[in-house]
Amino acid sequence: MGTEEPKGTAAKIREFEEAKEALMKMGGEKMIEKQHELGKLTARERLDRLYDLGTFQEIQLFVKHRSTLFGLDKKEINADGVIVGFGKVNGRTVFAAAQDFTSSGGSLGEMHAKKIWKVMDMALDARKPFVSLNDSGGARIQEGVPSLDGYGGIFYRNTIGSGYIPQITAIMGPTAGGAVYSPALTDWVFMVKNTSYMYITGPDVIKAVIGEEVTHDELGGAVSHASRSGVCHFATENDEDCIAKVRDLLSYLPDSCHGPLPLIECEDSPDRECPELDEIIPDKAARGYDMKKVVMSVADNNVIFEPHEMWAKNVIVAFIRIMGKPVGVIANNPRFGAGVLDVDASDKASRFIRFCDAFNIPLLTFSDVPGYMPGTKQEWAGIIRHGAKLLHAYSEATVPKITVVTRKDYGGAYIGMCSKNLGADYVMAWPSAEIAVMGAEGACNIIYRREISSAEDPAARRAELVASYEKQFNNPYFAAGMGIIEEIILPRDTRKRVAALLEALKDKTEVRLKKKHNNIPL
Ligand code: HXC
Repeated sequence: MGTEEPKGTAAKIREFEEAKEALMKMGGEKMIEKQHELGKLTARERLDRLYDLGTFQEIQLFVKHRSTLFGLDKKEINADGVIVGFGKVNGRTVFAAAQDFTSSGGSLGEMHAKKIWKVMDMALDARKPFVSLNDSGGARIQEGVPSLDGYGGIFYRNTIGSGYIPQITAIMGPTAGGAVYSPALTDWVFMVKNTSYMYITGPDVIKAVIGEEVTHDELGGAVSHASRSGVCHFATENDEDCIAKVRDLLSYLPDSCHGPLPLIECEDSPDRECPELDEIIPDKAARGYDMKKVVMSVADNNVIFEPHEMWAKNVIVAFIRIMGKPVGVIANNPRFGAGVLDVDASDKASRFIRFCDAFNIPLLTFSDVPGYMPGTKQEWAGIIRHGAKLLHAYSEATVPKITVVTRKDYGGAYIGMCSKNLGADYVMAWPSAEIAVMGAEGACNIIYRREISSAEDPAARRAELVASYEKQFNNPYFAAGMGIIEEIILPRDTRKRVAALLEALKDKTEVRLKKKHNNIPL
């Protein structure tokens, strides 16, 4: 007796299973092999790593393109080159789209875009994070303008969802032309070293138009965007590392601006002293030290998660946890450029502050700043405009804001690092703090110019005057006396005080004037 062909419903089920299996193969074995040879995972393999085992649920697998132009009527593109769906990451729901380079280069046509719209709409309705894993040759050339329109719909959703749900993009292959703008509109951009690039126009066009010669990687590779342009927040080693870091980042973020902050169990004590901080400030005022060590000392288990590690190193932005709850840290780093504020540092800190505020993550600021960077380069790059962003971002933020002054806190930059009247809820200073309009030498050269030049011994007189200015301002007591800082604390008590304050301020609510939206200086 031969095996009987199934009939009726059983036949339909088999037909469905076979069709699904065929679609799941995406671009086929040869293309998958090519992808692996390039050191890249396929879209399905990436999603397997993003989601907790067996939790991913794909939607709209059967969607097909409907273009008949330039031979597309004869071309099948499995899943139309993009896998969309949802699942659990560290036990929490996250929506995602993963472009599949093995299927027609992951090119984005009308239906490919509509699948992405669908999953973004679901994420917005469900108020859950959205992750985009990009690996695409860009707009599907054969389809023409519907492809461009597809991007338009994605940009629109990126914007509507901004500040509502966290949006993360991982660039895991090529991204050229206008396609770069969806990543740029999302909150966080990851790139993979050697296998991903982003640029508006590639090396060939650049050479033809302005005669400049540059490689793909130099122009738009992960390290370039992580260290020069600041377009990318994380330059990762390979696909696995990239996805592991996306999962890490998600662990610090709430589902939406309406969701509670994720709380993880904390074995570290809120009363832990940090004796190493008593010795971190060098005796010589001009000497740098690594503020990252301060941030690590204060964080639960000394763990920090740092975006933009390679860009604008004079300021640190980082997520930490205090008693298991996420906190956003902004800190000058005197190890680089004396911790000065410049155009890039202002941009970096402002965007981070606005992200944290949008998602209710409290802000902890460590200040050791000599001022804003002087010079024509910075003035003409718009330090006034960019520096204003920082003031705006801190002032508009309604989350708990705690500031710790470790050493210098001079001039406009003192205000820029979340001073009391910029809206800090609580300002603390270490005994090494110096809160003044400017450094003693510079101040005396201005206010005592005539007196110094007419003195019998100008150098000796200058030294005397500088010493008296330093006595007045090179300490936290004048500011403490005025109530401009709340408290002078021992460095070793910083974690204790911060933990107690975050607990005390956890239900802080601040109501602002009703209006459409602020107009941050961009
Ligand atoms: C249609 C595309 C495609 C595209 C790649 N493919 N990009 N199909 N539209 N944009 C297809 C190829 O035809 C090929 O199909 C398969 O994907 C794999 O591509 P290869 O070229 O063989 O791969 P590789 O050698 O690795 O080169 C990758 C690449 C190259 C560098 C990305 O494919 C490329 O230059 N593509 C075009 C890039 C581009 O100019 N895109 C438009 C940008 S403008 P088969 O069938 O042979 O497997 C844009 C505007 C967006 O995107 C605007 C938004 C506002």
